[in-house]
Amino acid sequence: MMPFGERSRRVTGMMFLLIIAAVLHHSFAALSATTMAPAQTTAAPHTDPGRPDRGTYNVTNGNNTVCLLAYMGLQLNITYNSTSQGKIITEVVNIKPNVTQASGSCEAERAVLELKTDANKTTLTFVFTLNTTSSKYHLSEASLTTTVSDPKVGNFSARNSSLDSLQGTLGFSYMCRMEQTLTVSQNLSINTFQVQLQPFEVSGDKFGAAVECQLDEDNMLIPIIVGAALAGLVFIVLLAYLIGRKRSHAGYQTI
Ligand SMILES: *[C@@H]1O[C@H](CO)[C@@H](O)[C@H](O)[C@H]1NC(C)=O
Ligand SMILES: *[C@@H]1O[C@H](CO)[C@@H](O)[C@H](O)[C@H]1NC(C)=O
Ligand SMILES: *[C@@H]1O[C@H](CO)[C@@H](O)[C@H](O)[C@H]1NC(C)=O
Ligand SMILES: *[C@@H]1O[C@H](CO)[C@@H](O)[C@H](O)[C@H]1NC(C)=O
Ligand SMILES: *[C@@H]1O[C@H](CO)[C@@H](O)[C@H](O)[C@H]1NC(C)=O
Ligand SMILES: *[C@@H]1O[C@H](CO)[C@@H](O)[C@H](O)[C@H]1NC(C)=O
Ligand SMILES: *[C@@H]1O[C@H](CO)[C@@H](O)[C@H](O)[C@H]1NC(C)=O
Ligand SMILES: *[C@@H]1O[C@H](CO)[C@@H](O)[C@H](O)[C@H]1NC(C)=O
Ligand SMILES: *[C@@H]1O[C@H](CO)[C@@H](O)[C@H](O)[C@H]1NC(C)=O
Ligand SMILES: *[C@@H]1O[C@H](CO)[C@@H](O)[C@H](O)[C@H]1NC(C)=O
Repeated sequence: MMPFGERSRRVTGMMFLLIIAAVLHHSFAALSATTMAPAQTTAAPHTDPGRPDRGTYNVTNGNNTVCLLAYMGLQLNITYNSTSQGKIITEVVNIKPNVTQASGSCEAERAVLELKTDANKTTLTFVFTLNTTSSKYHLSEASLTTTVSDPKVGNFSARNSSLDSLQGTLGFSYMCRMEQTLTVSQNLSINTFQVQLQPFEVSGDKFGAAVECQLDEDNMLIPIIVGAALAGLVFIVLLAYLIGRKRSHAGYQTI
């Protein structure tokens, strides 16, 4: 028959192995769920154009210095009532950086980025506003004019001048690696990818230090939490093993 100390040590060892297996399973399931998420959202069967390429868009002011920098991938999600097909159509279109011209203007409290593509058939405009009291800037307006594939519908436009997204701090650039969705109107949303931008106080044609968006921080937190939980478990198992060994030694001595 096994000495009591030995058996209880084996039982506790087994229990901890089971717990570790369960925790590992859960954390890997959570990890793969978060890494799979972007793939699932872009899995629309017909109109999925894939991930857009990242463009580098600059605005220069009168004396040829860069005053606005925006590096990002952009995807338009347009909904309209197709008269020829008799149903509501969703068109997802990527902005192709190599056929897109950036222009705009920079004022003290207002900066405009205008992107024109497809022989100027599509114009996408972003307006950033600076609040000098709080030294914060944000995207305050977005508008789009384009043509949709249904020739009977032809032109499409949408505009929202009361947005409050992509908030950044003066002197710093705004950064968001994760995909984000800007809802412009009921019929237009813009998916952004790998954004880094600075609409004010660009010095030396370079971005200031980046302030990461909440979405990125949350995403980085998951592996940290999982790692910390695993480290804690390893410590507990080690502790249990040491205590178990001490107990079984004590057991042998009394027998
Ligand atoms: C360029 O013009 C802006 C005002 O439009 C001024 O603040 C800035 O100092 C000028 N930069 C250079 C290099 O002259
Ligand atoms: C486009 O918008 C529609 C409705 O707003 C939504 O159901 C769909 O998931 C969006 N597609 C993409 C690729 O963002
Ligand atoms: C906007 O989309 C709705 C359906 O979501 C559609 O009924 C409406 O006609 C669209 N409006 C325009 C201007 O395309
Ligand atoms: C789409 O357009 C047709 C014809 O103009 C109209 O009869 C129908 O009500 C519209 N559908 C929506 C959802 O707006
Ligand atoms: C733009 O880039 C795409 C690939 O990203 C390529 O297929 C296309 O030929 C390019 N167009 C031009 C005009 O360079
Ligand atoms: C598009 O518009 C810009 C000015 O905004 C002009 O310089 C350019 O020639 C136009 N391109 C085409 C293809 O019309
Ligand atoms: C600017 O920020 C201050 C402080 O956060 C706020 O009280 C004020 O309403 C803001 N101004 C504008 C025009 O948004
Ligand atoms: C679409 O817009 C273009 C330029 O703004 C204009 O020349 C054209 O007539 C418009 N087409 C329709 C069908 O409204
Ligand atoms: C503009 O955006 C704001 C904030 O996202 C939203 O509350 C508002 O309904 C939008 N306006 C229109 C016309 O879609
Ligand atoms: C934008 O400016 C950066 C330097 O600040 C430069 O490397 C890049 O080529 C420029 N891009 C465009 C499209 O002009």
